Amino acid sequence: MCGIVGYIGKNQAYNVLINGLKRLEYRGYDSAGIALLSDKHLIYKCKGKVSKLEDLIQDKTTEGTCGIAHTRWATHGEPNEVNAHPHESMNGLFVLVHNGIIENYAVLRKYLTDRGYIFRSETDTEVIVNLIEFYYLKGDLSVESAVQLALQKLVGAYGLVISCKDAPNQLIAVRKSSPLVIGIGTDEYYIASDAAPIVEYTKSVIFLDNDLMAIIRNDEMRLISVTNTKLQPKIEEIDLDIDAIEKGGFEHFMLKEIFEQPKSIRDTFRGRVGINNSDMRLGGLADVMPKLVAAERITIIGCGTSWHAALLGEYMIEELARIPVEVEYASEFRYRNPIINQKDVIIAVSQSGETADTLAAIRLAKASGATVIGICNVVGSSLSRETDAGVFTHAGPEIGVASTKAFTAQVTVLAMLANILAFHRCTISETEFVEFIQQLSQIPDKIEQVLAKDAHIKQIAEKLKDRQNALYLGRGYFFPVALEGALKLKEISYIHAEGYPAAEMKHGPIALIDENMPVVIIATKDHSYDKVASNVQEVKARRGIIIAIVNEGDEFISEMADYTIEIPESGYFLSALTAIIPLQLLSYHIAVLRGCNVDQPRNLAKSVTVE
Ligand code: F6R
Repeated sequence: MCGIVGYIGKNQAYNVLINGLKRLEYRGYDSAGIALLSDKHLIYKCKGKVSKLEDLIQDKTTEGTCGIAHTRWATHGEPNEVNAHPHESMNGLFVLVHNGIIENYAVLRKYLTDRGYIFRSETDTEVIVNLIEFYYLKGDLSVESAVQLALQKLVGAYGLVISCKDAPNQLIAVRKSSPLVIGIGTDEYYIASDAAPIVEYTKSVIFLDNDLMAIIRNDEMRLISVTNTKLQPKIEEIDLDIDAIEKGGFEHFMLKEIFEQPKSIRDTFRGRVGINNSDMRLGGLADVMPKLVAAERITIIGCGTSWHAALLGEYMIEELARIPVEVEYASEFRYRNPIINQKDVIIAVSQSGETADTLAAIRLAKASGATVIGICNVVGSSLSRETDAGVFTHAGPEIGVASTKAFTAQVTVLAMLANILAFHRCTISETEFVEFIQQLSQIPDKIEQVLAKDAHIKQIAEKLKDRQNALYLGRGYFFPVALEGALKLKEISYIHAEGYPAAEMKHGPIALIDENMPVVIIATKDHSYDKVASNVQEVKARRGIIIAIVNEGDEFISEMADYTIEIPESGYFLSALTAIIPLQLLSYHIAVLRGCNVDQPRNLAKSVTVE
């Protein structure tokens, strides 16, 4: 949820820290702060974005070759300067940054208050820094031991980077359920919540595992468990290009990511589809494929956009492979005492692989003996490490807070999985299997054709930008697309939008329709075309503003609609991939025209690592 950066080495820390914060700002942007560390702590922090912090520091000293920094998505305590990280202990000995949540912070705060500690902020984080200091001073302990003792008392999730004035050339990084990556340079180390701030300096990294502590000086790093066992670090080379995390000439990351979809989808199926488009496999699932093929039931879990992809997965797997599928919000699944047993297969869908509810749900499923599979975009993420098997979506880093290319990559993987399962279960023929692969290989070009309509979509956005509400309707595969289109609009433009199955409109939402209500209807030529056409007529009769997504050459619905956006026919099972593109662009342009910050919408953060 929050973003952490740390640096220790031979160079000045400030630029690494501030640039790192900019790369992590998508994780939270309520406040930002930096501490430059030596035998004294230089701490700068402010409410708001990293650019504000930069302005604040402009004429201040930034000397120091060691430092930590933080960009916050507020959980405990409102976003203000006092609650911003880094947090210093009461006696000024320790300073730290924290990503995560401490569930028993109130008890610990009382414990420390009763022993004379005075707190400055309302955060759970200040409890950690004071607890470490309390043990350090009281127990005559080493810095390391004081940290270990304090960690034993914490309940919750944390990624922490800690410094102590008595050990000024040392940083301690520790992780439990909140990600931390350590980059290894020459006589220098980088620490961050993900690899984005690190890749421009080094590609050699260590993904810190749960309950591990790295004790880092500029010329050495030791890895120990929180219970003090010495461990050998596993160094990995990451394959992340700096261009992938730059805007590349686009005004916003979201627009860049929308336009990247032909490439990201190609990257998703590349290497998994045979050269002559007649074979397809998902290597990461090889070990669990027999279990998947024989599954009596599959449950797919996710949150937000990933849940919408999961819903498409349900439709495709049931229709093609004839395996019963249930789709669950991870947050509901984990608390509703679901019936899971060893025969179950659970598929968790997550872009970040760090969503707290999704991780908790897979842990519950694993504990019940189920086979757990991940569909995830971020290599090295918690989800990818905790599942029995999985598929990386290979969409590349998604920085815009509103998910776009990650969604289409997830749907691509689920469509591939549905067809592979169907082929193995003989519920589709070889001809149908090959036909699907051929249709899939054409999707990137078809998306290019939709992207070419950007200027037309922007003109429609001009007409809709001042509306307060919108309805999104679709049937079958287009119902999840309608949900996703509505989510995109509400999260970045703050226009209230709802997605519905088109036929459900008459069971309630139709009451909302008048001449002020835009209704976005996906009405392409498939078996429900006539039914959707009737729904369009129902909206027309009530003078709603109809924006129809139709196939090229459509006349019947186009004549009724106020605005149409044409998309190419792309095969029933893959049509969601082309139909979502105009909805992403429409939301993007409406939000920009309304003056909204599309990459960093209010109150949101890219990965939701708290419940
Ligand atoms: C919406 C969006 C969120 C995420 C959700 C799950 O645009 O991005 O709804 O889809 O928070 O995140 P992941 O996929 O990282 O588990």
